[in-house]
Amino acid sequence: MDSRIQFYLVIFMVTLATILSPTLAKLTPNYYDRVCPKALPIIKSLVKQAIYREPRIGASLLRLHFHDCFVNGCDASVLLDDTPTFLGEKTAFPNNNSIRGFEVVDQIKAAVTKACKRDVVSCADILAIAARDSVTILGGNQYWYQVLLGRRDARNASWAAANANLPPPFFNFSQLITSFQSHGLNLKDLVVLSGAHTIGFAKCSSFRDRIFNDTNIDNNFAANLRNTTCPRIGGDTNLAPFDSTPTKVDTTYYKGLLYKKGLLHSDQELYKGDGSQSDRYVKLYSKNSYAFAKDFGVSMIKMGNLKPLTGRKGEIRCNCRKVNNY
Ligand code: HEM
Ligand SMILES: *[C@@H]1O[C@H](CO)[C@@H](O)[C@H](O)[C@H]1NC(C)=O
Ligand SMILES: *[C@@H]1O[C@H](CO)[C@@H](O)[C@H](O)[C@H]1NC(C)=O
Ligand SMILES: *[C@@H]1O[C@H](CO)[C@@H](O)[C@H](O)[C@H]1NC(C)=O
Ligand SMILES: *[C@@H]1O[C@H](CO)[C@@H](O)[C@H](O)[C@H]1NC(C)=O
Ligand SMILES: *[C@@H]1O[C@H](CO)[C@@H](O)[C@H](O)[C@H]1NC(C)=O
Repeated sequence: MDSRIQFYLVIFMVTLATILSPTLAKLTPNYYDRVCPKALPIIKSLVKQAIYREPRIGASLLRLHFHDCFVNGCDASVLLDDTPTFLGEKTAFPNNNSIRGFEVVDQIKAAVTKACKRDVVSCADILAIAARDSVTILGGNQYWYQVLLGRRDARNASWAAANANLPPPFFNFSQLITSFQSHGLNLKDLVVLSGAHTIGFAKCSSFRDRIFNDTNIDNNFAANLRNTTCPRIGGDTNLAPFDSTPTKVDTTYYKGLLYKKGLLHSDQELYKGDGSQSDRYVKLYSKNSYAFAKDFGVSMIKMGNLKPLTGRKGEIRCNCRKVNNY
Protein backbone atom coordinates (compact mmCIF):
# COMPACT_ATOMS: atom_id res chain seq x y z
CA MET A 1 0.00 0.00 0.00
CA ASP A 2 1.12 3.56 -0.73
CA SER A 3 2.81 4.76 2.45
CA ARG A 4 0.89 8.05 2.38
CA ILE A 5 -2.44 6.28 2.27
CA GLN A 6 -1.22 4.03 5.04
CA PHE A 7 -0.27 7.13 7.06
CA TYR A 8 -3.71 8.74 6.67
CA LEU A 9 -5.43 5.46 7.43
CA VAL A 10 -3.57 5.24 10.74
CA ILE A 11 -4.49 8.84 11.61
CA PHE A 12 -8.13 8.13 10.71
CA MET A 13 -8.27 5.00 12.84
CA VAL A 14 -6.64 6.66 15.83
CA THR A 15 -9.12 9.57 15.58
CA LEU A 16 -12.04 7.16 15.31
CA ALA A 17 -10.84 5.17 18.30
CA THR A 18 -10.50 8.36 20.32
CA ILE A 19 -14.04 9.48 19.46
CA LEU A 20 -15.60 6.09 20.08
CA SER A 21 -13.74 5.40 23.27
CA PRO A 22 -14.24 8.13 25.84
CA THR A 23 -12.21 6.00 28.24
CA LEU A 24 -9.12 7.17 26.38
CA ALA A 25 -9.94 10.71 27.45
CA LYS A 26 -7.12 12.14 29.48
CA LEU A 27 -7.19 14.27 32.58
CA THR A 28 -6.51 17.98 32.01
CA PRO A 29 -5.57 20.85 34.32
CA ASN A 30 -8.33 23.16 33.09
CA TYR A 31 -11.25 20.73 33.26
CA TYR A 32 -13.41 22.98 35.48
CA ASP A 33 -12.40 26.33 33.98
CA ARG A 34 -15.54 26.51 31.84
CA VAL A 35 -18.08 24.39 33.77
CA CYS A 36 -17.30 25.75 37.22
CA PRO A 37 -14.48 28.28 37.49
CA LYS A 38 -15.23 28.81 41.18
CA ALA A 39 -14.55 25.18 42.10
CA LEU A 40 -10.80 25.35 42.68
CA PRO A 41 -10.74 28.59 44.69
CA ILE A 42 -13.59 27.30 46.89
CA ILE A 43 -11.79 24.03 47.58
CA LYS A 44 -8.59 25.84 48.48
CA SER A 45 -10.35 28.19 50.85
CA LEU A 46 -12.22 25.35 52.60
CA VAL A 47 -9.04 23.29 52.95
CA LYS A 48 -7.37 26.35 54.44
CA GLN A 49 -10.20 26.82 56.96
CA ALA A 50 -10.13 23.14 57.90
CA ILE A 51 -6.36 23.24 58.48
CA TYR A 52 -6.77 26.38 60.57
CA ARG A 53 -9.30 24.52 62.75
CA GLU A 54 -7.17 21.40 62.95
CA PRO A 55 -3.63 21.42 61.48
CA ARG A 56 -3.48 17.62 61.13
CA ILE A 57 -6.37 17.53 58.67
CA GLY A 58 -4.03 18.47 55.77
CA ALA A 59 -2.13 15.22 56.32
CA SER A 60 -5.37 13.27 56.56
CA LEU A 61 -6.64 14.71 53.25
CA LEU A 62 -3.35 13.91 51.51
CA ARG A 63 -3.53 10.33 52.73
CA LEU A 64 -7.15 9.96 51.55
CA HIS A 65 -6.07 10.65 47.96
CA PHE A 66 -3.29 8.04 48.23
CA HIS A 67 -5.64 5.44 49.69
CA ASP A 68 -8.15 6.23 46.95
CA CYS A 69 -5.67 5.92 44.07
CA PHE A 70 -4.04 2.66 45.20
CA VAL A 71 -7.37 0.82 45.32
CA ASN A 72 -8.85 0.41 41.83
CA GLY A 73 -7.62 3.83 40.75
CA CYS A 74 -8.44 7.41 41.76
CA ASP A 75 -12.23 7.02 41.69
CA ALA A 76 -13.33 8.10 45.19
CA SER A 77 -14.14 4.49 46.07
CA VAL A 78 -12.52 5.12 49.47
CA LEU A 79 -15.33 7.54 50.36
CA LEU A 80 -18.20 5.06 49.91
CA ASP A 81 -19.99 3.77 52.98
CA ASP A 82 -20.82 0.06 53.23
CA THR A 83 -24.00 -1.04 51.43
CA PRO A 84 -25.95 -4.30 51.27
CA THR A 85 -24.19 -5.09 47.96
CA PHE A 86 -20.61 -4.34 48.93
CA LEU A 87 -18.42 -3.91 51.96
CA GLY A 88 -16.57 -0.65 51.47
CA GLU A 89 -12.92 0.27 51.99
CA LYS A 90 -13.35 2.30 55.16
CA THR A 91 -13.05 -0.72 57.47
CA ALA A 92 -10.23 -2.45 55.58
CA PHE A 93 -7.20 -2.96 57.85
CA PRO A 94 -5.09 -0.03 56.61
CA ASN A 95 -8.12 2.30 56.86
CA ASN A 96 -10.14 1.19 59.89
CA ASN A 97 -10.10 3.86 62.62
CA SER A 98 -7.26 5.49 60.72
CA ILE A 99 -8.31 7.40 57.61
CA ARG A 100 -10.07 10.65 58.31
CA GLY A 101 -11.21 13.86 56.66
CA PHE A 102 -14.62 12.69 55.37
CA GLU A 103 -16.49 15.60 56.94
CA VAL A 104 -14.24 18.11 55.16
CA VAL A 105 -14.81 16.32 51.86
CA ASP A 106 -18.59 16.48 52.42
CA GLN A 107 -18.37 20.15 53.22
CA ILE A 108 -16.32 20.85 50.08
CA LYS A 109 -18.74 18.81 47.96
CA ALA A 110 -21.75 20.77 49.25
CA ALA A 111 -20.02 24.09 48.67
CA VAL A 112 -18.93 23.38 45.08
CA THR A 113 -22.33 21.95 44.16
CA LYS A 114 -23.96 25.12 45.43
CA ALA A 115 -21.49 27.43 43.66
CA CYS A 116 -21.61 25.51 40.37
CA LYS A 117 -25.44 25.21 40.68
CA ARG A 118 -25.19 21.51 39.74
CA ASP A 119 -23.16 18.41 40.43
CA VAL A 120 -20.18 18.77 38.14
CA VAL A 121 -17.16 18.30 40.40
CA SER A 122 -16.37 14.67 41.12
CA CYS A 123 -15.47 13.42 44.58
CA ALA A 124 -12.31 11.87 43.10
CA ASP A 125 -11.18 15.28 41.80
CA ILE A 126 -12.01 16.89 45.16
CA LEU A 127 -9.61 14.42 46.81
CA ALA A 128 -6.84 15.21 44.30
CA ILE A 129 -7.28 18.98 44.68
CA ALA A 130 -7.57 18.89 48.48
CA ALA A 131 -4.37 16.80 48.67
CA ARG A 132 -2.47 19.34 46.54
CA ASP A 133 -3.88 22.33 48.42
CA SER A 134 -2.95 20.76 51.77
CA VAL A 135 0.64 20.31 50.63
CA THR A 136 0.86 23.88 49.33
CA ILE A 137 -0.75 25.41 52.42
CA LEU A 138 1.53 23.49 54.79
CA GLY A 139 4.68 23.78 52.68
CA GLY A 140 4.46 27.06 50.79
CA ASN A 141 4.21 27.85 47.10
CA GLN A 142 7.37 25.91 46.40
CA TYR A 143 5.24 22.80 46.91
CA TRP A 144 2.49 23.78 44.48
CA TYR A 145 1.94 21.51 41.49
CA GLN A 146 -0.72 21.42 38.83
CA VAL A 147 -3.42 18.80 39.46
CA LEU A 148 -4.91 17.05 36.47
CA LEU A 149 -8.71 16.83 36.52
CA GLY A 150 -11.75 15.18 34.93
CA ARG A 151 -11.97 12.01 37.02
CA ARG A 152 -15.38 10.48 37.62
CA ASP A 153 -16.59 8.52 40.64
CA ALA A 154 -16.88 4.76 41.04
CA ARG A 155 -20.17 2.99 41.69
CA ASN A 156 -18.59 0.30 43.84
CA ALA A 157 -15.80 -0.24 46.32
CA SER A 158 -13.93 -3.22 47.66
CA TRP A 159 -12.87 -4.11 51.20
CA ALA A 160 -10.71 -6.93 49.86
CA ALA A 161 -9.00 -4.74 47.26
CA ALA A 162 -8.13 -2.16 49.94
CA ASN A 163 -6.50 -4.88 52.06
CA ALA A 164 -4.64 -6.27 49.08
CA ASN A 165 -3.41 -3.04 47.54
CA LEU A 166 -2.38 -0.70 50.35
CA PRO A 167 1.13 -1.33 51.70
CA PRO A 168 1.28 -2.01 55.46
CA PRO A 169 3.92 -0.38 57.70
CA PHE A 170 5.79 -3.65 58.31
CA PHE A 171 6.69 -4.10 54.62
CA ASN A 172 10.38 -4.39 53.82
CA PHE A 173 12.10 -2.60 50.96
CA SER A 174 11.46 -5.24 48.30
CA GLN A 175 7.82 -5.55 49.29
CA LEU A 176 7.40 -1.77 49.04
CA ILE A 177 9.01 -1.75 45.61
CA THR A 178 6.75 -4.60 44.45
CA SER A 179 3.67 -2.79 45.79
CA PHE A 180 4.54 0.48 44.06
CA GLN A 181 5.52 -1.31 40.84
CA SER A 182 2.12 -2.98 40.75
CA HIS A 183 0.74 0.56 40.43
CA GLY A 184 3.24 1.59 37.77
CA LEU A 185 5.36 3.54 40.25
CA ASN A 186 9.14 3.19 40.53
CA LEU A 187 11.80 3.54 43.23
CA LYS A 188 11.96 7.31 42.87
CA ASP A 189 8.17 7.56 43.20
CA LEU A 190 8.32 5.37 46.32
CA VAL A 191 10.96 7.49 48.01
CA VAL A 192 9.50 10.86 47.08
CA LEU A 193 5.86 9.94 47.81
CA SER A 194 6.85 8.51 51.19
CA GLY A 195 7.92 12.10 51.83
CA ALA A 196 4.19 12.70 52.42
CA HIS A 197 5.11 11.49 55.90
CA THR A 198 6.64 14.92 56.40
CA ILE A 199 3.18 15.71 57.81
CA GLY A 200 0.82 13.83 60.07
CA PHE A 201 0.82 11.18 62.74
CA ALA A 202 0.78 7.43 63.23
CA LYS A 203 -0.74 5.31 65.96
CA CYS A 204 1.34 3.29 68.39
CA SER A 205 -0.04 0.07 66.85
CA SER A 206 1.55 1.08 63.53
CA PHE A 207 5.10 1.41 64.94
CA ARG A 208 5.19 -0.74 68.11
CA ASP A 209 7.10 -3.62 66.53
CA ARG A 210 9.60 -1.14 65.14
CA ILE A 211 10.45 0.55 68.44
CA PHE A 212 10.66 -2.78 70.34
CA ASN A 213 12.25 -5.03 67.75
CA ASP A 214 14.05 -3.14 64.98
CA THR A 215 17.79 -2.63 65.14
CA ASN A 216 18.02 0.00 62.41
CA ILE A 217 16.67 2.64 64.84
CA ASP A 218 18.17 5.38 66.99
CA ASN A 219 18.30 4.11 70.61
CA ASN A 220 17.12 7.28 72.30
CA PHE A 221 14.38 7.81 69.76
CA ALA A 222 13.05 4.29 70.35
CA ALA A 223 13.45 4.39 74.16
CA ASN A 224 11.67 7.70 74.36
CA LEU A 225 8.67 6.43 72.39
CA ARG A 226 8.57 3.23 74.47
CA ASN A 227 8.56 5.33 77.63
CA THR A 228 6.00 7.85 76.57
CA THR A 229 3.64 7.21 73.67
CA CYS A 230 3.90 3.53 72.97
CA PRO A 231 4.37 0.97 75.74
CA ARG A 232 4.53 -2.75 75.01
CA ILE A 233 0.95 -3.18 76.21
CA GLY A 234 -1.83 -0.60 75.83
CA GLY A 235 -1.89 2.82 74.25
CA ASP A 236 -2.59 1.40 70.77
CA THR A 237 -4.24 4.58 69.54
CA ASN A 238 -1.68 7.02 71.00
CA LEU A 239 -0.22 9.20 68.27
CA ALA A 240 3.36 10.11 67.40
CA PRO A 241 4.38 12.57 64.68
CA PHE A 242 6.29 11.20 61.68
CA ASP A 243 8.91 13.92 62.08
CA SER A 244 9.55 16.81 64.47
CA THR A 245 7.54 19.22 62.26
CA PRO A 246 4.25 17.35 61.62
CA THR A 247 2.36 20.37 60.31
CA LYS A 248 5.07 21.57 57.94
CA VAL A 249 5.82 20.12 54.55
CA ASP A 250 9.62 20.21 54.56
CA THR A 251 12.67 17.92 54.36
CA THR A 252 12.77 17.02 58.09
CA TYR A 253 11.28 13.57 57.41
CA TYR A 254 14.28 12.66 55.23
CA LYS A 255 16.78 14.17 57.67
CA GLY A 256 15.29 11.90 60.36
CA LEU A 257 15.82 8.84 58.17
CA LEU A 258 19.56 9.67 57.97
CA TYR A 259 19.64 9.42 61.80
CA LYS A 260 17.57 6.20 61.96
CA LYS A 261 14.60 8.16 63.24
CA GLY A 262 12.05 6.88 60.76
CA LEU A 263 8.81 6.24 62.66
CA LEU A 264 7.52 3.31 60.62
CA HIS A 265 9.55 0.25 59.68
CA SER A 266 8.62 1.06 56.05
CA ASP A 267 10.01 4.60 56.40
CA GLN A 268 13.42 3.40 57.58
CA GLU A 269 13.54 0.74 54.86
CA LEU A 270 14.19 3.60 52.42
CA TYR A 271 17.47 4.47 54.13
CA LYS A 272 19.89 1.86 55.42
CA GLY A 273 23.18 3.70 54.99
CA ASP A 274 24.43 1.10 52.51
CA GLY A 275 24.80 3.49 49.57
CA SER A 276 21.86 2.08 47.60
CA GLN A 277 20.00 4.17 45.04
CA SER A 278 17.21 4.55 47.61
CA ASP A 279 19.76 5.95 50.11
CA ARG A 280 20.91 8.41 47.47
CA TYR A 281 17.36 9.73 46.92
CA VAL A 282 16.83 10.10 50.67
CA LYS A 283 20.10 12.06 50.96
CA LEU A 284 19.17 14.28 48.03
CA TYR A 285 15.69 15.10 49.39
CA SER A 286 17.08 15.62 52.91
CA LYS A 287 19.17 18.54 51.74
CA ASN A 288 17.41 19.84 48.66
CA SER A 289 13.86 21.02 49.23
CA TYR A 290 13.63 22.17 45.59
CA ALA A 291 14.37 18.66 44.34
CA PHE A 292 11.87 17.24 46.84
CA ALA A 293 9.14 19.73 45.90
CA LYS A 294 9.64 19.25 42.16
CA ASP A 295 9.84 15.45 42.23
CA PHE A 296 6.96 15.17 44.72
CA GLY A 297 4.66 17.07 42.35
CA VAL A 298 5.69 14.90 39.40
CA SER A 299 5.03 11.68 41.34
CA MET A 300 1.73 12.96 42.77
CA ILE A 301 0.53 13.63 39.22
CA LYS A 302 1.63 10.11 38.27
CA MET A 303 -0.23 8.64 41.24
CA GLY A 304 -3.26 10.81 40.41
CA ASN A 305 -3.33 9.27 36.94
CA LEU A 306 -3.92 5.75 38.24
CA LYS A 307 -6.88 4.30 36.35
CA PRO A 308 -9.19 7.33 36.49
CA LEU A 309 -12.75 6.87 35.26
CA THR A 310 -13.36 9.32 32.42
CA GLY A 311 -15.84 9.99 29.62
CA ARG A 312 -19.02 8.06 30.32
CA LYS A 313 -17.53 5.68 32.88
CA GLY A 314 -18.64 6.05 36.48
CA GLU A 315 -20.66 9.07 37.55
CA ILE A 316 -20.48 12.40 39.33
CA ARG A 317 -21.71 11.44 42.78
CA CYS A 318 -24.17 13.80 44.50
CA ASN A 319 -23.11 12.58 47.93
CA CYS A 320 -19.51 11.44 48.18
CA ARG A 321 -20.49 8.66 50.59
CA LYS A 322 -23.15 7.05 48.37
CA VAL A 323 -23.58 6.05 44.75
CA ASN A 324 -26.37 7.89 42.92
CA ASN A 325 -29.81 6.22 42.59
CA TYR A 326 -31.34 6.47 39.17
C1 HEM B 1 5.26 3.66 51.18
C2 HEM B 1 4.28 3.01 51.75
C3 HEM B 1 3.43 3.61 52.84
C4 HEM B 1 3.11 3.01 54.00
C5 HEM B 1 3.52 1.60 54.45
C6 HEM B 1 2.31 3.94 54.75
C7 HEM B 1 1.75 3.67 55.99
C8 HEM B 1 1.16 4.62 56.80
C9 HEM B 1 0.70 4.37 58.14
C10 HEM B 1 0.77 3.04 58.87
C11 HEM B 1 0.23 5.54 58.63
C12 HEM B 1 -0.33 5.79 60.03
C13 HEM B 1 -1.73 5.25 60.12
C14 HEM B 1 -2.21 5.16 61.54
O1 HEM B 1 -1.41 4.78 62.41
O2 HEM B 1 -3.40 5.46 61.79
C15 HEM B 1 0.36 6.52 57.59
C16 HEM B 1 -0.02 7.84 57.71
C17 HEM B 1 0.07 8.75 56.68
N1 HEM B 1 0.40 8.46 55.37
FE1 HEM B 1 1.34 6.81 54.74
N2 HEM B 1 2.17 5.09 54.04
C18 HEM B 1 2.82 4.93 52.85
C19 HEM B 1 2.87 5.84 51.82
C20 HEM B 1 2.19 7.04 51.81
C21 HEM B 1 1.98 7.86 50.65
C22 HEM B 1 2.43 7.51 49.25
C23 HEM B 1 1.28 8.96 51.07
C24 HEM B 1 0.77 10.12 50.26
C25 HEM B 1 1.25 10.49 49.09
C26 HEM B 1 1.09 8.82 52.48
C27 HEM B 1 0.51 9.77 53.29
C28 HEM B 1 0.33 9.63 54.66
C29 HEM B 1 -0.03 10.72 55.54
C30 HEM B 1 -0.13 12.18 55.15
C31 HEM B 1 -0.21 10.16 56.81
C32 HEM B 1 -0.64 10.88 58.09
C33 HEM B 1 -2.16 10.95 58.12
C34 HEM B 1 -2.76 11.64 59.34
O3 HEM B 1 -2.05 12.15 60.19
O4 HEM B 1 -4.01 11.65 59.39
N3 HEM B 1 1.62 7.64 52.90
N4 HEM B 1 0.92 5.92 56.49
C1 LIG C 1 -12.89 -1.80 62.73
O1 LIG C 1 -12.85 -1.18 63.99
C2 LIG C 1 -13.97 -1.45 64.82
C3 LIG C 1 -13.78 -0.70 66.11
O2 LIG C 1 -13.87 0.66 65.89
C4 LIG C 1 -14.08 -2.94 65.08
O3 LIG C 1 -15.23 -3.21 65.84
C5 LIG C 1 -14.14 -3.68 63.77
O4 LIG C 1 -14.09 -5.08 64.02
C6 LIG C 1 -12.96 -3.29 62.88
N1 LIG C 1 -13.10 -3.91 61.60
C7 LIG C 1 -12.14 -4.66 61.05
C8 LIG C 1 -12.46 -5.25 59.74
O5 LIG C 1 -11.06 -4.84 61.58
C1 LIG D 1 -16.07 -2.13 40.32
O1 LIG D 1 -16.63 -2.85 39.25
C2 LIG D 1 -15.83 -2.84 38.10
C3 LIG D 1 -16.60 -3.51 36.98
O2 LIG D 1 -17.24 -4.66 37.46
C4 LIG D 1 -14.50 -3.52 38.38
O3 LIG D 1 -13.67 -3.51 37.26
C5 LIG D 1 -13.83 -2.79 39.51
O4 LIG D 1 -12.64 -3.44 39.87
C6 LIG D 1 -14.74 -2.69 40.70
N1 LIG D 1 -14.15 -1.81 41.68
C7 LIG D 1 -14.02 -2.16 42.92
C8 LIG D 1 -13.52 -1.09 43.83
O5 LIG D 1 -14.27 -3.25 43.33
C1 LIG E 1 11.03 -9.11 52.60
O1 LIG E 1 9.90 -9.81 53.04
C2 LIG E 1 9.57 -10.94 52.26
C3 LIG E 1 8.25 -11.50 52.78
O2 LIG E 1 8.27 -11.68 54.17
C4 LIG E 1 10.70 -11.97 52.35
O3 LIG E 1 10.42 -13.11 51.56
C5 LIG E 1 11.98 -11.34 51.86
O4 LIG E 1 13.06 -12.20 52.04
C6 LIG E 1 12.25 -10.02 52.60
N1 LIG E 1 13.37 -9.34 51.95
C7 LIG E 1 14.42 -8.93 52.62
C8 LIG E 1 15.49 -8.30 51.82
O5 LIG E 1 14.50 -9.03 53.83
C1 LIG F 1 8.89 -8.46 68.55
O1 LIG F 1 9.38 -9.73 68.12
C2 LIG F 1 8.94 -10.83 68.94
C3 LIG F 1 9.65 -12.09 68.43
O2 LIG F 1 9.50 -12.24 67.06
C4 LIG F 1 7.41 -10.91 68.84
O3 LIG F 1 6.94 -11.97 69.65
C5 LIG F 1 6.79 -9.60 69.29
O4 LIG F 1 5.40 -9.66 69.11
C6 LIG F 1 7.37 -8.45 68.49
N1 LIG F 1 6.78 -7.17 68.87
C7 LIG F 1 6.94 -6.58 70.08
C8 LIG F 1 6.21 -5.29 70.29
O5 LIG F 1 7.61 -7.04 70.97
C1 LIG G 1 12.54 5.67 80.38
O1 LIG G 1 12.01 5.41 81.66
C2 LIG G 1 12.95 4.84 82.55
C3 LIG G 1 12.25 4.45 83.84
O2 LIG G 1 11.21 5.34 84.15
C4 LIG G 1 14.07 5.86 82.79
O3 LIG G 1 15.05 5.32 83.63
C5 LIG G 1 14.72 6.17 81.42
O4 LIG G 1 15.69 7.20 81.60
C6 LIG G 1 13.69 6.65 80.44
N1 LIG G 1 14.32 6.79 79.14
C7 LIG G 1 14.03 7.76 78.30
C8 LIG G 1 14.78 7.77 77.01
O5 LIG G 1 13.22 8.63 78.55
